[in-house]
Amino acid sequence: MVIQVCVGSSCHLKGSQLIVELLQKAIRANGLENEITLVGTLCVGKCNRVGVSVQVDDDIFAGITAENFGDFFAENILKKLRG
Ligand code: FES
Repeated sequence: MVIQVCVGSSCHLKGSQLIVELLQKAIRANGLENEITLVGTLCVGKCNRVGVSVQVDDDIFAGITAENFGDFFAENILKKLRG
């Protein structure tokens, strides 16, 4: 699985760095280092009023924040990986 965190200027201002750190932590905590490639990307065209855009394989999720990160990770990453 490839996870691309948007580090374009809008997302950067809304916390890309924090989302990257939360992803790194969650990936480690779940032992997914060998299953996930985490990279940054420029604007994916989904700039949102709040939060950061994150692309998981072909799906783009906008508005990821520290508050909704846990649900996002469980729903769109863990569930997808573990079927
Ligand atoms: S800067 Fe992230 S979607 Fe535009």
